[in-house]
Amino acid sequence: MIVPEFIPKPYKSLLDSGYVAYSSPSNIALVKYWGKKEHQIPANPSISFTLNKCKTLTTLKFEKKTSKGFSFKVFLEGVLQKDFKPKIEQFFKRIEAYMPFLSLYHFTIETSNTFPHSSGIASSASGMSALALCLVHLEQRLNPEITKAFFNKKASFLARLGSGSACRSIEGTLIVWGTHANIAGSSDLVGIKYPYEVHTNFNKFCDTILLVDKGGKQVSSTVGHDLMHGHPFAEERFAQANTNMDALIEVLKTGDLAAFISIVEREALTLHAMMMSSDPYFILMKSNTLEIINKIWAFRKKTGLNICFTLDAGANVHVLYPQNEANEIRDFIKTSLVMHCQNEQFIEDTLGEGAQPIKI
Ligand code: PMV
Repeated sequence: MIVPEFIPKPYKSLLDSGYVAYSSPSNIALVKYWGKKEHQIPANPSISFTLNKCKTLTTLKFEKKTSKGFSFKVFLEGVLQKDFKPKIEQFFKRIEAYMPFLSLYHFTIETSNTFPHSSGIASSASGMSALALCLVHLEQRLNPEITKAFFNKKASFLARLGSGSACRSIEGTLIVWGTHANIAGSSDLVGIKYPYEVHTNFNKFCDTILLVDKGGKQVSSTVGHDLMHGHPFAEERFAQANTNMDALIEVLKTGDLAAFISIVEREALTLHAMMMSSDPYFILMKSNTLEIINKIWAFRKKTGLNICFTLDAGANVHVLYPQNEANEIRDFIKTSLVMHCQNEQFIEDTLGEGAQPIKI
């Protein structure tokens, strides 16, 4: 599948060498993407909050070369990462038609995260979006006519080909990816800014990420998405995601936090239920994940505060709450939940505005 819109016109000239750098955030889905078709097309629409502090910072150094094929080295926190090569090689292959200069340069990709790698925080989302942004930035230097809107659109399009959810990490604060009948402009190819009214209850919404298990992921998301092929509940799940998006449109408009909580927690548990009922099956929650969930429910019942949780494909818990309840909820998190985290580690984050270039 080739999308002509993203194929550039021949560049007038090439730069010999240089640097570009971008920082790109992670995102947390409210309605989850789980299951895909060929060419990284999602089986259902999803919507996410863009985070502010959880970021990948990437510098891309480029030097013209004469040899054939792709040539690159990847460093994470200054350490050469041979393990990352296959994923980036595959990414380059997928996007070469849209970035014809890829095989003309040797690249040094230097990357660091503001959160632990493979902590269950979507480092592939921030990592792939940061790399996609660096590449589009380089392209913009070869063709300065590229507009900001097209820059973001192309970065999202490329990021998706690296890791699906990465296409939701370019802009803030609420991003939709996947065609939905009632969301104008929504697309399977790129993430778009949520185009409708959002109630002030969601301004600067907070997410405290509890690092329950910082070990590597038990199941890669590639394997997880594949398990939705032939899954007995797949079609119902995809339909449910569409229905939940409709319900969320209303909730985002009215600011109904009780309804928000119900959608977000059901989505998280459904994602895990899909994994628990696939063949082979997995349980990605740990006993501490359940301890935390039960404590959140008890605290919500007792206080009436609008605290809820969501999960990615791992054991960590994202605790979501409105900003005007942050003081009480953060106290509760510190005194009652942090003890269930590995090394008591957690990250206090809020909604963010999206990726930014880094000045070097
Ligand atoms: O982008 P991927 O292929 O790593 O998939 C991520 C899927 C979830 O994080 C579990 C859900 C989502 O929508 O982000």
